[in-house]
Amino acid sequence: MKIKEFLCKDFGGITSQEKRWLLAERLGWGLTDLYLNDQNDIDIEVLAQLRNDLLKLQTGLPFAYLVGWAEFRSLKLAVGPGVLIPRPETELIVDLIKESVDQIRPPQQITIAEFGVGSGCLSLSLAHELKNVKVVGFEVSQAAHDVAVKNLRKYSDERVTFLLQNIHSQDLEQIANSVAQVSPARHGLEFFDIVVSNPPYISPQDAEVSQSVREFEPPIALFSNDGGLCHAKEFSKVAGSLLKPGGQCLFELGCNNAQRFAEWLNSQSANDRAIYKWNDVQVLKDLSQRERFVKFYKGER
Ligand SMILES: C[S@@+](CC[C@H](N)C(=O)[O-])C[C@H]1O[C@@H](n2cnc3c(N)ncnc32)[C@H](O)[C@@H]1O
Repeated sequence: MKIKEFLCKDFGGITSQEKRWLLAERLGWGLTDLYLNDQNDIDIEVLAQLRNDLLKLQTGLPFAYLVGWAEFRSLKLAVGPGVLIPRPETELIVDLIKESVDQIRPPQQITIAEFGVGSGCLSLSLAHELKNVKVVGFEVSQAAHDVAVKNLRKYSDERVTFLLQNIHSQDLEQIANSVAQVSPARHGLEFFDIVVSNPPYISPQDAEVSQSVREFEPPIALFSNDGGLCHAKEFSKVAGSLLKPGGQCLFELGCNNAQRFAEWLNSQSANDRAIYKWNDVQVLKDLSQRERFVKFYKGER
């Protein structure tokens, strides 16, 4: 079969983009090479591999798991079962953090914590795109942590540290010890300028989650009780302890629960006995104008 024939053939449910990427991947070529050589015959062994791949994709296996990588901003990251495939909408977090860091005057060294690192896409992109940051990423899943460490080795950035660590307010002492390993010179718990997270935020009862996501992606990365807010609430409590006064949090949530989370933060701050208060709680929209992010600040700014 010629390259052009493969690209034009209907393989039932496989998109044109998937066909192009798959063929380029298995031939070890760039996408333009496909068009420049579209009259070439596909080697018989490659064709057998492609048939096998197409059958797997037809079962709903995500393309990223099939080939073992996914792109996120300018990075090409390893992914695999046990780690969430980075989503394009999460890329916006990097722009939002860049805006915040750029506004800090005078420019200074910024320490960022990420809760729930997954593949490492956010932490690594932030370090890759911002000169003056140090990033500490916390992840509870061993499988995801291993993939993040592999990606860190690939991009080899000594300003990024990944720790295998549960983020929960009951584990605060352990979290403090982990942070102390990273920066022995730190003073007290309030160490970070920014906490960023794309926590699990899908309600287990949400019927809109696709079959492919439910079947292949790790539940620990997806689902959270309390209408999808259990992790965000817990993560915000830990953030309250780890942030410097005036520090910023930015969380990604679902369009059905971002507003609810913002209201919960405000209600927490209204409590006279609150240990810390959240200021300037803002719900931000994604590029499709859906309410997807919540930004909030610790104490007075
Ligand atoms: C939605 S995924 C986000 C992964 C990655 N940051 C991204 O944007 O693609 C949430 C991540 O949080 C991790 N996670 C879940 N509960 C956690 C906890 N209690 N402490 C630390 N990480 C947790 C999951 O294993 C998963 O990797």
